[in-house]
Amino acid sequence: MKILNFGSMNLDYVYSVPHFVQPGETLSATHRSICFGGKGLNQSIALARAGVQVFHGGWVGAGGESLCSLLRENGVDVSLLASVQEMQGHTVIQVNPQGENCILLFGGSNRCVTESQILSTLASFSPGDWLVLQNEISGLEILLREAHRKGMVTVLNPSPFEDSIRSLDLGNLSWMLVNEIEVAQLTGTSDPEAAFSILHTQYPGLSLLVTLGSHGSVAFRQTPEGTEIAKEDALSVKCVDTTGAGDTYTGYFLAGLIQGLSLQESMHQASLAAAISVTRPGAADSIPWRKECGF
Ligand code: RIB
Repeated sequence: MKILNFGSMNLDYVYSVPHFVQPGETLSATHRSICFGGKGLNQSIALARAGVQVFHGGWVGAGGESLCSLLRENGVDVSLLASVQEMQGHTVIQVNPQGENCILLFGGSNRCVTESQILSTLASFSPGDWLVLQNEISGLEILLREAHRKGMVTVLNPSPFEDSIRSLDLGNLSWMLVNEIEVAQLTGTSDPEAAFSILHTQYPGLSLLVTLGSHGSVAFRQTPEGTEIAKEDALSVKCVDTTGAGDTYTGYFLAGLIQGLSLQESMHQASLAAAISVTRPGAADSIPWRKECGF
């Protein structure tokens, strides 16, 4: 079984601020660093650090070579990445003293995905292989359609949420991974059971995972026997920076499923890894290795 994460890569310009800048305000940052990020790259790194062999697909833009090197250093297969002249995707991230963030995203190279690139990338994959996606690239509709047609297991983390997500054919999707805000944007309710019920009526084959911040996470997995439900508490830790915590959860959760752990075990290891990540600054840099998690 092969795993493809077709996803974004960003250079994160991270500013420590006393509070998020207000309209019309000029605010001095107390610190700035340039970090490796992008939901796609973060999730590939989390999968790799959790022990999964993963291919990262997409474009490397101008100025993004260091992101490609980081993936390679972490054992991610970058042979399917291609180069484009467009500026590398990047973000401006404010982090406040509570460790909360506020992100301004410029898609750049991540928005250059073409149908021919998708078809040539997916040509290396077969039925039963996995495709992992987030919403920071163009071409999601085609990726989902073609991967479903090939019989791949398809996973979407529709983050950052935009109206365009509602027009995707979620019937092509195996797993949807959302936080409590995204699930409400998608279904109109932040109650995970009610949201699942709405989605299940329309897409009976869809499995759903909802992360609830300090309230943990809940999953609804479709099996031949029916819907399996699992709940996991969040761990309480001193938060430095939440950037990348959701991506860490996603990578470790999927790694658990791919490695044959139970649903509950996969959620447990994902919670542990995400808790470690929020105690560290940065996105990709904050993702723990498997042995740091004690398993
Ligand atoms: O999920 C965190 C990521 O979101 C950051 O690394 C940033 O690049 C944005 O894409």
